[in-house]
Amino acid sequence: MRRLLPDPGPTSVEEQLDTYRPWEHPRAERPFLAMNFAATVDGRATIGGVSGPIGSETDTAMLVGLRSRFDAVMIGAGTMRAERYSGLSKRLVVVESGPQGRVDLPALLRSLREEGVGTLLCEGGPTLHGALQTAGLVDELFLTIAPKLSGGGAPRILEGELPAVAEFELAWLLEHEGELFARYSRR
Ligand SMILES: NC(=O)c1ccc[n+]([C@@H]2O[C@H](COP(=O)([O-])OP(=O)(O)OC[C@H]3O[C@@H](n4cnc5c(N)ncnc54)[C@H](OP(=O)(O)O)[C@@H]3O)[C@@H](O)[C@H]2O)c1
Repeated sequence: MRRLLPDPGPTSVEEQLDTYRPWEHPRAERPFLAMNFAATVDGRATIGGVSGPIGSETDTAMLVGLRSRFDAVMIGAGTMRAERYSGLSKRLVVVESGPQGRVDLPALLRSLREEGVGTLLCEGGPTLHGALQTAGLVDELFLTIAPKLSGGGAPRILEGELPAVAEFELAWLLEHEGELFARYSRR
Protein backbone atom coordinates (compact mmCIF):
# COMPACT_ATOMS: atom_id res chain seq x y z
CA MET A 1 0.00 0.00 0.00
CA ARG A 2 1.17 3.52 -0.85
CA ARG A 3 0.23 6.77 0.83
CA LEU A 4 -0.30 9.37 -1.90
CA LEU A 5 -1.35 12.19 0.45
CA PRO A 6 -0.07 13.65 2.70
CA ASP A 7 3.62 12.76 2.84
CA PRO A 8 3.86 10.17 0.01
CA GLY A 9 5.53 6.85 0.82
CA PRO A 10 4.94 3.20 1.63
CA THR A 11 2.40 2.34 4.31
CA SER A 12 0.07 -0.48 5.36
CA VAL A 13 -3.45 -0.67 6.76
CA GLU A 14 -2.01 -1.34 10.21
CA GLU A 15 0.59 1.43 10.09
CA GLN A 16 -1.89 3.95 8.71
CA LEU A 17 -4.60 3.19 11.27
CA ASP A 18 -2.06 3.29 14.07
CA THR A 19 -1.85 7.05 13.50
CA TYR A 20 -5.64 7.41 13.50
CA ARG A 21 -6.95 8.33 16.96
CA PRO A 22 -10.56 9.54 16.80
CA TRP A 23 -10.82 9.48 20.61
CA GLU A 24 -8.46 12.49 20.66
CA HIS A 25 -11.28 14.61 19.18
CA PRO A 26 -14.06 14.19 21.75
CA ARG A 27 -17.44 15.87 21.27
CA ALA A 28 -19.46 17.05 24.23
CA GLU A 29 -22.98 16.32 23.03
CA ARG A 30 -22.48 13.24 20.85
CA PRO A 31 -19.83 10.69 19.84
CA PHE A 32 -17.19 11.64 17.29
CA LEU A 33 -18.79 10.14 14.17
CA ALA A 34 -17.11 8.71 11.07
CA MET A 35 -18.87 7.15 8.08
CA ASN A 36 -17.35 4.30 6.06
CA PHE A 37 -18.36 3.37 2.51
CA ALA A 38 -17.05 1.51 -0.53
CA ALA A 39 -18.09 2.63 -4.01
CA THR A 40 -17.38 1.78 -7.64
CA VAL A 41 -15.86 4.37 -9.98
CA ASP A 42 -19.38 5.08 -11.28
CA GLY A 43 -20.39 5.91 -7.73
CA ARG A 44 -22.50 2.84 -6.93
CA ALA A 45 -22.69 1.60 -3.35
CA THR A 46 -23.99 -1.88 -4.20
CA ILE A 47 -23.48 -4.62 -6.77
CA GLY A 48 -26.38 -7.06 -6.86
CA GLY A 49 -27.92 -5.34 -3.83
CA VAL A 50 -24.94 -5.77 -1.49
CA SER A 51 -21.63 -4.00 -0.85
CA GLY A 52 -19.42 -7.11 -0.60
CA PRO A 53 -18.49 -7.39 -4.31
CA ILE A 54 -17.24 -3.77 -4.44
CA GLY A 55 -14.10 -3.82 -2.27
CA SER A 56 -11.05 -6.09 -2.10
CA GLU A 57 -9.60 -8.01 0.83
CA THR A 58 -7.58 -4.89 1.62
CA ASP A 59 -10.83 -2.95 1.91
CA THR A 60 -12.12 -5.55 4.35
CA ALA A 61 -8.87 -5.27 6.35
CA MET A 62 -9.31 -1.48 6.42
CA LEU A 63 -12.90 -1.85 7.67
CA VAL A 64 -11.96 -4.37 10.36
CA GLY A 65 -9.02 -2.19 11.42
CA LEU A 66 -11.21 0.90 11.52
CA ARG A 67 -13.75 -0.83 13.75
CA SER A 68 -11.00 -1.47 16.27
CA ARG A 69 -10.45 2.31 16.58
CA PHE A 70 -14.07 3.05 17.58
CA ASP A 71 -16.22 2.33 20.64
CA ALA A 72 -19.26 1.20 18.64
CA VAL A 73 -20.57 0.56 15.12
CA MET A 74 -23.88 1.89 13.77
CA ILE A 75 -25.93 0.86 10.70
CA GLY A 76 -29.39 1.58 9.32
CA ALA A 77 -32.20 -0.95 9.18
CA GLY A 78 -31.82 -1.25 5.38
CA THR A 79 -28.19 -2.28 5.74
CA MET A 80 -29.08 -4.71 8.51
CA ARG A 81 -31.59 -6.34 6.16
CA ALA A 82 -29.22 -6.49 3.15
CA GLU A 83 -25.88 -7.37 4.72
CA ARG A 84 -24.64 -10.08 7.04
CA TYR A 85 -23.78 -8.57 10.41
CA SER A 86 -22.59 -11.10 12.93
CA GLY A 87 -19.55 -11.78 15.07
CA LEU A 88 -18.77 -8.10 15.54
CA SER A 89 -16.46 -7.49 18.50
CA LYS A 90 -17.94 -4.02 19.02
CA ARG A 91 -21.36 -2.88 20.15
CA LEU A 92 -23.70 -2.69 17.13
CA VAL A 93 -26.36 0.04 17.06
CA VAL A 94 -29.09 -0.58 14.46
CA VAL A 95 -31.17 2.49 13.56
CA GLU A 96 -34.71 1.30 12.88
CA SER A 97 -38.03 3.08 12.96
CA GLY A 98 -40.39 2.46 15.86
CA PRO A 99 -44.06 3.24 16.49
CA GLN A 100 -43.16 6.98 16.54
CA GLY A 101 -41.60 6.77 13.06
CA ARG A 102 -37.97 7.46 12.24
CA VAL A 103 -35.33 7.69 14.92
CA ASP A 104 -34.42 11.13 16.30
CA LEU A 105 -30.72 10.94 15.40
CA PRO A 106 -29.39 13.84 17.55
CA ALA A 107 -31.23 12.34 20.55
CA LEU A 108 -29.88 8.85 19.79
CA LEU A 109 -26.32 10.15 19.56
CA ARG A 110 -26.74 12.17 22.75
CA SER A 111 -27.86 9.10 24.66
CA LEU A 112 -25.01 7.00 23.24
CA ARG A 113 -22.56 9.67 24.43
CA GLU A 114 -24.15 9.59 27.89
CA GLU A 115 -23.67 5.82 27.91
CA GLY A 116 -19.95 6.34 27.32
CA VAL A 117 -19.72 5.89 23.54
CA GLY A 118 -17.08 8.48 22.65
CA THR A 119 -16.45 7.39 19.07
CA LEU A 120 -18.88 5.86 16.59
CA LEU A 121 -18.25 4.30 13.16
CA CYS A 122 -21.34 4.37 10.94
CA GLU A 123 -21.18 1.84 8.10
CA GLY A 124 -24.22 3.13 6.21
CA GLY A 125 -26.32 2.82 4.39
CA PRO A 126 -27.02 5.70 2.02
CA THR A 127 -30.36 6.73 3.59
CA LEU A 128 -28.96 6.89 7.11
CA HIS A 129 -25.93 8.74 5.73
CA GLY A 130 -28.19 11.38 4.16
CA ALA A 131 -30.06 11.86 7.42
CA LEU A 132 -26.84 12.15 9.46
CA GLN A 133 -25.34 14.70 7.03
CA THR A 134 -28.62 16.67 7.03
CA ALA A 135 -28.42 16.88 10.82
CA GLY A 136 -24.74 17.93 10.68
CA LEU A 137 -23.62 14.95 12.76
CA VAL A 138 -20.75 13.59 10.62
CA ASP A 139 -17.09 14.39 11.36
CA GLU A 140 -15.30 12.16 8.87
CA LEU A 141 -15.91 10.01 5.81
CA PHE A 142 -13.81 6.99 4.86
CA LEU A 143 -14.39 6.12 1.22
CA THR A 144 -12.93 3.22 -0.72
CA ILE A 145 -13.11 3.64 -4.49
CA ALA A 146 -12.79 0.28 -6.23
CA PRO A 147 -11.47 0.27 -9.83
CA LYS A 148 -14.76 -1.15 -11.13
CA LEU A 149 -17.81 0.03 -13.08
CA SER A 150 -21.12 -1.62 -12.28
CA GLY A 151 -23.83 0.53 -13.90
CA GLY A 152 -27.49 -0.08 -13.17
CA GLY A 153 -29.65 1.74 -10.70
CA ALA A 154 -27.79 0.99 -7.49
CA PRO A 155 -27.74 3.70 -4.80
CA ARG A 156 -24.87 6.10 -4.24
CA ILE A 157 -23.17 6.48 -0.87
CA LEU A 158 -25.68 9.18 0.08
CA GLU A 159 -29.34 9.25 -0.87
CA GLY A 160 -31.83 12.04 -0.21
CA GLU A 161 -31.72 15.81 -0.24
CA LEU A 162 -29.19 17.83 1.75
CA PRO A 163 -30.04 21.33 3.02
CA ALA A 164 -26.64 22.57 1.75
CA VAL A 165 -23.50 21.22 0.14
CA ALA A 166 -21.34 19.57 2.82
CA GLU A 167 -17.68 20.51 2.41
CA PHE A 168 -14.78 18.24 3.33
CA GLU A 169 -10.98 18.26 3.32
CA LEU A 170 -9.01 15.30 2.02
CA ALA A 171 -7.13 14.10 5.12
CA TRP A 172 -5.38 11.18 3.43
CA LEU A 173 -5.35 9.18 0.22
CA LEU A 174 -3.93 5.66 -0.02
CA GLU A 175 -3.62 3.28 -2.96
CA HIS A 176 -3.28 -0.48 -3.26
CA GLU A 177 -3.62 -2.40 -6.54
CA GLY A 178 -5.67 0.38 -8.12
CA GLU A 179 -8.04 0.73 -5.18
CA LEU A 180 -8.16 4.17 -3.52
CA PHE A 181 -8.74 4.71 0.19
CA ALA A 182 -9.70 8.27 1.04
CA ARG A 183 -10.32 9.87 4.39
CA TYR A 184 -12.26 13.13 4.35
CA SER A 185 -12.67 15.45 7.36
CA ARG A 186 -15.57 17.86 7.70
CA ARG A 187 -14.55 21.49 7.25
N1 LIG B 1 -21.15 0.35 -0.25
C1 LIG B 1 -21.23 0.47 1.04
O1 LIG B 1 -20.23 0.80 1.69
C2 LIG B 1 -22.55 0.22 1.75
C3 LIG B 1 -22.62 0.43 3.12
C4 LIG B 1 -23.83 0.20 3.77
C5 LIG B 1 -24.93 -0.23 3.05
N2 LIG B 1 -24.81 -0.43 1.72
C6 LIG B 1 -25.98 -0.88 0.96
O2 LIG B 1 -27.02 0.06 1.15
C7 LIG B 1 -28.29 -0.60 1.10
C8 LIG B 1 -29.11 -0.20 2.30
O3 LIG B 1 -29.17 1.19 2.36
P1 LIG B 1 -30.53 1.96 2.66
O4 LIG B 1 -30.25 3.39 2.32
O5 LIG B 1 -31.64 1.24 1.99
O6 LIG B 1 -30.71 1.71 4.20
P2 LIG B 1 -29.98 2.27 5.53
O7 LIG B 1 -29.48 3.66 5.34
O8 LIG B 1 -29.04 1.23 6.04
O9 LIG B 1 -31.23 2.27 6.52
C9 LIG B 1 -32.25 3.21 6.34
C10 LIG B 1 -33.42 2.78 7.20
O10 LIG B 1 -33.14 3.04 8.57
C11 LIG B 1 -34.35 3.29 9.24
N3 LIG B 1 -34.30 4.58 9.90
C12 LIG B 1 -34.87 4.83 11.12
N4 LIG B 1 -34.68 6.08 11.49
C13 LIG B 1 -33.97 6.67 10.50
C14 LIG B 1 -33.50 8.00 10.34
N5 LIG B 1 -33.68 8.95 11.25
N6 LIG B 1 -32.83 8.29 9.21
C15 LIG B 1 -32.60 7.34 8.28
N7 LIG B 1 -33.03 6.07 8.38
C16 LIG B 1 -33.72 5.73 9.49
C17 LIG B 1 -35.44 3.27 8.17
O11 LIG B 1 -35.90 1.92 8.08
P3 LIG B 1 -37.15 1.34 8.83
O12 LIG B 1 -38.25 2.34 8.61
O13 LIG B 1 -37.36 0.04 8.19
O14 LIG B 1 -36.74 1.26 10.27
C18 LIG B 1 -34.67 3.56 6.90
O15 LIG B 1 -35.30 3.05 5.76
C19 LIG B 1 -28.01 -2.08 1.06
O16 LIG B 1 -28.18 -2.53 -0.27
C20 LIG B 1 -26.55 -2.19 1.46
O17 LIG B 1 -25.93 -3.28 0.84
C21 LIG B 1 -23.65 -0.21 1.05
